[in-house]
Amino acid sequence: MAARLLEVRDLRVEFRTRDGIAEAVGGVSYGVDAGRTLAVLGESGSGKSVTAQAVMGILDSPPGRVTGGQVLFRGRDLLTMGARERRRIRGAAMAMIFQDALSALNPVVSVGAQLAEMYEVHRGMSRKDARRRAVELMDRVRIPAAGQRAGDYPHQFSGGMRQRIMIAMAMALEPELIIADEPTTALDVTVQAQVMDLLAELRREYAMGLVLITHDLGVVADVADTIAVMYAGRIVETAPVRDLYRRPAHPYTRGLLDSVPRVDHRGERLYAIKGAPPSPLAMPSGCPFHPRCPRAQEVCRTERPPLYEVATADATRAFGASPGSGASGASAVSIASSASPGSGAPPAPGGRTSACHFWKDELDARDSHDALGA
Ligand SMILES: Nc1ncnc2c1ncn2[C@@H]1O[C@H](COP(=O)(O)OP(=O)(O)OP(=O)(O)O)[C@@H](O)[C@H]1O
Ligand code: SF4
Ligand SMILES: [Mg+2]
Repeated sequence: MAARLLEVRDLRVEFRTRDGIAEAVGGVSYGVDAGRTLAVLGESGSGKSVTAQAVMGILDSPPGRVTGGQVLFRGRDLLTMGARERRRIRGAAMAMIFQDALSALNPVVSVGAQLAEMYEVHRGMSRKDARRRAVELMDRVRIPAAGQRAGDYPHQFSGGMRQRIMIAMAMALEPELIIADEPTTALDVTVQAQVMDLLAELRREYAMGLVLITHDLGVVADVADTIAVMYAGRIVETAPVRDLYRRPAHPYTRGLLDSVPRVDHRGERLYAIKGAPPSPLAMPSGCPFHPRCPRAQEVCRTERPPLYEVATADATRAFGASPGSGASGASAVSIASSASPGSGAPPAPGGRTSACHFWKDELDARDSHDALGA
């Protein structure tokens, strides 16, 4: 069985703003195994990047502050270990790819020199060897005529090529984990697919874990093993990719799926989730999704749903609560108020969770998403 590489447990991040304390991440748990891909999906402002920044230790702090939770890398908590060891792990074993390569790369240093510097600084290579490795790496990420282009500056490359260079920078030290934050959002569709294919290919070749942050359901179907859906700073659903596409267990996920254009529904008006996500300064009571949820009931306004463990059989329990405390179907509501706080651990590989009181009704509602490509 694959080893669990990264496990984020009940992570909380706040920002101090002029208008008060904004809870940007309100208890996020997710995990990724070596050699696997976790896609983190959610609308703008849902806390995807802030979670990743807290994991990587690059949170804008102040005003940001991690106020709780754990970030376990191979079982050890990055948030509590000594600064030196944390730097060593974050420097070599984990790497991040950003959306905007132009601002992430140094504009006044040639790309070959930037890549070579990684080998000189971290691997103690001579300048000549480091330059040679840099060109090999540029070649590996399929920069045409890599040897000639190593002396060029970032602005001399197209958006897609720059993103390949970012991938090369992240890969240089052969990390165990890569977090890619919207790596293809700024590119046009064809180039998006090429860059995503390259990332998936390298992930396989080096057996890395990949956390792929995106707001685009279209890009994740082919590359992800598991999807974690975020809403208003929380995970609302986690599931293996095929299960999530076929039978979502949260109305927000269903809304996202219904918003994806489908070739077999050409000409139909596209569904849009009504309203806008809440401000982290003013979270709604109860379920944070209730003002926008087509299934909301009275209890949703007052009772915050815990992350329920979704069972395919009828029996279930509130996630993290002791076995036997659960019930099935609509009576899950009664658990919500009595659910003991969970351990904060994400579901085991292949497991599912949903932060909806009525997840079972949602699962039963329809099976019509299988045409979406899952
Ligand atoms: N430096 C900051 N100061 C104050 N609030 C911040 C800061 N950075 C992020 N936030 C807030 O944290 C929340 C989560 O932001 P985050 O960037 O993680 O969203 P996201 O899911 O990555 O969205 P997008 O898809 O637009 O990238 C937002 O409400 C945002 O306004
Ligand atoms: S608990 Fe479920 S049904 Fe209720 S508002 Fe939230 S998502 Fe909708
Ligand atoms: Mg973001």
